[in-house]
Amino acid sequence: MSKQPVNRQWLLARRPEGAVKPCDFRYREGAIPTPSEGDVLLRTLYFGYDASQRIWLTEDGGYMPPIRIGEPMRAMGIGQVVESHDPAYAAGDLVEGFMSWQDYAIVRSDGPMPLRLLPKADYPLSWNLGVFGVGGLTAYFGVTDGLKVKPGDTVVVSAATGATGSLAGGIAKALGAKKVIGIAGGPEKCRWIVEKAGYDAAIDYQNENLDARLAELCPEGVDAYFDNVGGDMLDTLLLRMAPRGRVLICGAMSSGYTDVKLKGPSNYMRICTHMLTMQGILLFFYRDQLAEGAQQLGRWVAQGKLHVEENLFEGFEKAPELLPTMFSGKKPGKLLLKVADPT
Ligand SMILES: NC(=O)c1ccc[n+]([C@@H]2O[C@H](COP(=O)([O-])OP(=O)(O)OC[C@H]3O[C@@H](n4cnc5c(N)ncnc54)[C@H](OP(=O)(O)O)[C@@H]3O)[C@@H](O)[C@H]2O)c1
Repeated sequence: MSKQPVNRQWLLARRPEGAVKPCDFRYREGAIPTPSEGDVLLRTLYFGYDASQRIWLTEDGGYMPPIRIGEPMRAMGIGQVVESHDPAYAAGDLVEGFMSWQDYAIVRSDGPMPLRLLPKADYPLSWNLGVFGVGGLTAYFGVTDGLKVKPGDTVVVSAATGATGSLAGGIAKALGAKKVIGIAGGPEKCRWIVEKAGYDAAIDYQNENLDARLAELCPEGVDAYFDNVGGDMLDTLLLRMAPRGRVLICGAMSSGYTDVKLKGPSNYMRICTHMLTMQGILLFFYRDQLAEGAQQLGRWVAQGKLHVEENLFEGFEKAPELLPTMFSGKKPGKLLLKVADPT
């Protein structure tokens, strides 16, 4: 008689206070869930890490329902269909979308993001969570549609080694920006964004005076700022924006995402006096354009205009210990965990 496979799970054990810790999760070997009408049962292969996972762990949940105590931790992932009760998917298909930290998960296509069928491709499967996933697509729509970067612009990107920031600079260059400056923590990361990620210059926010360096590098002001950090960094940038400059609020890494209530910038009157435009981005709003974005990103990768960097770990047991590193100086690129190979 064949033995039932085990469904390894990492469940939320308690709501984190302050920074998320591995002990906020507990391991369990649970049953394989039974799919109902419209459900797709998957075997999970990769988990992506996103800073917003910390927001989902708050009581409020932010822009998604909060993860409840005892539930498997939600994550973007790649999986292989085991059993499908949705005619759009068949056993064996590879898909990307919202999953959770367990070997076998039930997913549906009617969530806030599509359950994307992954094409057979000559690039690594994991790229569907990185350059063709949340980070790459947010960078793409943020730079093209949010900031509307055009030839001649001076562009600044914060968290420039991150999954999003490491691609936003190259996208701005591909659109003809005159100068693209990235902000990162430490000399090694600053070197990386210039040598690998296509930035013209870097500012080390941990060791340099951000305002002085912006004045030096952008004497005529910043036309477009891709903000992944918020807080004091955003306040400093507001004072360095060129008249009619554009600011894209993509994230607020400096907050640690421990709460959904944050203090806004105190230099906000610059928006008035310099006729600035400040806009947000949430990838959900582009759910019908994801294929178009991925195609353009693919063309730029093929032309050598974008550098793809992965920070890949292996082993289901590592799922909780990697999450805090999002806020404590992870390596450049998309943080990923591989848990299984497709069959
Ligand atoms: N709105 C959307 O639809 C959407 C989609 C995707 C991502 N996002 C947001 O985009 C941002 C970046 O996400 P990601 O996945 O690209 O990043 P990531 O790969 O997780 O990297 C995060 C980066 O943030 C930097 N960082 C962490 N704490 C910081 C602090 N206190 N001050 C300055 N920098 C800090 C780190 O770089 P250093 O080592 O250089 O500090 C790290 O490289 C996040 O805020 C995320 O929520 C939004």
